[in-house]
Amino acid sequence: MAFFLAVANRKGGVGKSTVAVMLAHALSVHGGKRVLVLDLDSQCNASLILLGGQGWNEARKAGKTISDYFYDLFDGIPANARDYVAKNVGDVTGANGKPAPISLVPGSLLLEDIQGELYLKQANQSNNPETVANRVRGRMESLIRRFEGDFDVVILDCPPGLSFAALAALKTADKVIVPFRPDYVSQLAVDRIALLIEDTRNLDDLITIPLAERRYVCVANYVRDDNKDYMMIEEISLVHPVLDTFLPQRNGIANSFDFIGQSRSIDAKYGDAAADVKELHGEIQRMMQATTKVAVQ
Ligand SMILES: Nc1ncnc2c1ncn2[C@@H]1O[C@H](COP(=O)(O)OP(=O)(O)OP(=O)(O)O)[C@@H](O)[C@H]1O
Ligand SMILES: [Mg+2]
Repeated sequence: MAFFLAVANRKGGVGKSTVAVMLAHALSVHGGKRVLVLDLDSQCNASLILLGGQGWNEARKAGKTISDYFYDLFDGIPANARDYVAKNVGDVTGANGKPAPISLVPGSLLLEDIQGELYLKQANQSNNPETVANRVRGRMESLIRRFEGDFDVVILDCPPGLSFAALAALKTADKVIVPFRPDYVSQLAVDRIALLIEDTRNLDDLITIPLAERRYVCVANYVRDDNKDYMMIEEISLVHPVLDTFLPQRNGIANSFDFIGQSRSIDAKYGDAAADVKELHGEIQRMMQATTKVAVQ
């Protein structure tokens, strides 16, 4: 069974896709894991980082995106999830000098349309909006789960909004990674997604759940060497679980967004952030082990 890691935050531009792809590279190269990235955002940034513009266009033309899979299934075509998975994506070399064995289900601009169509279809069968919404989310959830065979870790890169795909990802995830920028607006966004993940009504209810038992963990990103940023991280840590590792604002992280056709080592790709990537990987690896142990008990 794969470990599902969703990377989510209802706020845009906090580094969700950056962290999702960074973890894919690190878990594959440093951790030797078989990693799949599922791009659930119709902006398709994770796909662009891992395939480049040309590669993503080719996947679209070949009908090998997440929406193609969903449409084929709805049309009753006997679609096999494996056929929609692009292998050996990204521009990082693995231990043997070959491209790191990272797989990707490419994102699609049509993912929102398909969720709308699913909703309408379900709405014909029930007048209760909550039932309809639950059914659509459940359908998306079972579709996401179909990809888990063959992989140790499935990383779900979520959109900033609350699409059914995002809600399904939050439900499916063994752990949700919530990147945030240390500012006041981000703090509110972390509160909102935490309530959703833990299914609690307000912060008073949320804080009754011990930090170690929460299904999400936050990671501070874009951190400047500035007391204000450190104080904000401290403040958020009082209410939410926050990783010890934080990601500073680094050129190496900003540049990792650009797909370069030729593979290079993970350290070369992340440049001045190579050590941050290793540290993040170590902490995530320990967290995954601890979560799996709790689940097995
Ligand atoms: N630690 C960092 N240092 C420098 N640049 C960063 C860092 N983290 C993210 N960025 C840059 O910030 C921008 C936004 O990051 P990213 O697209 O990963 O955010 P996102 O949360 O996925 O956004 P969206 O909500 O639009 O999907 C990108 O240009 C990325 O390169
Ligand atoms: Mg993104």
